[in-house]
Amino acid sequence: MSPSFEHDVLIIGSGAAGLSVALNLPEDLKIAVLSKTTLQSGSTLWAQGGIAAVYDDQDSTESHIQDTLNAGAGLCHEDAVRFTVENGRDAIEWLISQGVQFDKEESGTSSHNFHLTKEGGHSHRRILHAADATGQALSGSLTDRALEKTNIQIFEHRVGIDLITHRKLFMPGNRCVGAYVLNNRTGHVELFRARFVVLATGGASKVYLYTSNPDVATGDGIAMAWRAGCRVGNMEFNQFHPTCLYHPQAKSFLITEAVRGEGGKLLLPNGKRFMDRFSDKAELAPRDVVARAIDHEMKRLGADCLYLDISHRDTGFIKSHFPTVYERCLKYGIDITRDPIPVVPAAHYTCGGIITDQYSHTDINSLYAVGETAFTGLHGANRMASNSLLECLVFGRACAEDIVRRLEFSPPPPSAPSWDESQVTDSDEDVVISHNWDELRRFMWDYVGIVRTDKRLQRAKHRVDLLHQEIREYYSNYKVSNDLLELRNLVTVADLIICSAIQRQESRGLHYTLDYPKAMEKPTDTILVPVNFSSESW
Ligand code: FAD
Ligand code: SIN
Repeated sequence: MSPSFEHDVLIIGSGAAGLSVALNLPEDLKIAVLSKTTLQSGSTLWAQGGIAAVYDDQDSTESHIQDTLNAGAGLCHEDAVRFTVENGRDAIEWLISQGVQFDKEESGTSSHNFHLTKEGGHSHRRILHAADATGQALSGSLTDRALEKTNIQIFEHRVGIDLITHRKLFMPGNRCVGAYVLNNRTGHVELFRARFVVLATGGASKVYLYTSNPDVATGDGIAMAWRAGCRVGNMEFNQFHPTCLYHPQAKSFLITEAVRGEGGKLLLPNGKRFMDRFSDKAELAPRDVVARAIDHEMKRLGADCLYLDISHRDTGFIKSHFPTVYERCLKYGIDITRDPIPVVPAAHYTCGGIITDQYSHTDINSLYAVGETAFTGLHGANRMASNSLLECLVFGRACAEDIVRRLEFSPPPPSAPSWDESQVTDSDEDVVISHNWDELRRFMWDYVGIVRTDKRLQRAKHRVDLLHQEIREYYSNYKVSNDLLELRNLVTVADLIICSAIQRQESRGLHYTLDYPKAMEKPTDTILVPVNFSSESW
């Protein structure tokens, strides 16, 4: 019999979102944190540019709010934007209290002394960073703190399969009380029961062939929540980062937007700048504009890539501000102090997700969602650079505070049956999984990418429906494996993206379609409702 566990709080995901929740909870609570592979497996570790917060003397909260609203192209929820930005400095102070060290000016006259960099859409220098490896600094400190706490139990190589709800247990009301989890080391499925469950599983950019994201970004939380009966919102807004390194051996390595913030120029293969033809903000236009411009120029010229050039800046400055990018490029024979960097866009961020409110509540009682997996309304139709880590921290804390408020009304979880494997056998044709993985990610890239049309979306819908059917059948006949679970989730997420994109008959932010090139007058969110949705919760 597989082991089973009981905790006060089960947190699925160990990135900035999951660890913010865990570290903001009181130490007398028994907490489980799951990670699909190792503790630092998510996107958080890879963050480069930094975290946006208002520190510059010339800057203001209102300006950060306004820039976020502008980047979001009419779809941001202003209350979520205000809440996030107004809590920005507290979030930074908290990170510092956890041991994160941000770069400081060597000589500065301002009250804070942080070196603030700039990125697309920001009208002020606003990004706190640790060189170009902010994610390493943040993830390193938060994981160290979590490992020190005796009340936090870390479970690595654990893959959340599905949530356990009252409805599944044929009990009244709908509360989430745990999850079935694959132990990827033993191959057994374990039962985790808890009074509260938090989904902090990150984004879904692995649904595309080319992505800046690590392998774990397969949208598991979104798919699990959808299957359990939660609504999802704005899944058509998939952010493509304009500048990933183009090199056959570099697996979509990101070239941080801060390179453009510090004067990097985008160039055509003939060495000419072009961004001023697309926006008066040129290289520092919001990401959707820059990615679309690059895509347009690459297609127009039949070019494999364009170029990003920072070589006019002082060599010492480049090496100290962008050591990670410098070293990585050098490994591939590109010296960024002298050479332009070959770049292409790649899928980077999932703006939509599980619908949540200011306390990170989902549609199911006792189930929270935090971080990239959640749809809080902060990002609207296009996330502004460096607002994502901030969202993880602000909403992570709000989630922890809400759990504390609800503790006394929340009974221990009921018992639940162990995972039933009596009807399934070992898979005899793993090739089906690898083939479908490749097919899915390729047609999502080709048909549901930076530029869309009705015809391409319908083609994608047809294919995803077939895959859905095949995977459902496979899932009900064979034992679960990590690859099968990820594929099952990716197919669900792809379907949600395609259905949302088909519904949005306009171009706005990251959703651009040749069939409806204009934005509609009244912006609305795309809300998808699962068949098992129930409006009664919390
Ligand atoms: P993640 O950090 O992705 O963590 C997800 C966690 O969930 C992982 O531990 C994973 O193992 C776990 N998990 C997933 N599925 C399961 C499952 N089924 N069972 C168990 N565990 C599971 N944002 C910024 O604000 N500033 C930046 O400078 C910046 N730079 C970036 C650079 C890169 C290359 C990338 C990829 C992203 C960047 N972003 C940046 C975006 C930002 O890093 C992410 O949005 C953010 O880190 C997401 O944090 P998270 O905690 O929600 O998810
Ligand atoms: C980057 O450094 O360009 C990534 C920043 C982000 O995704 O917010």
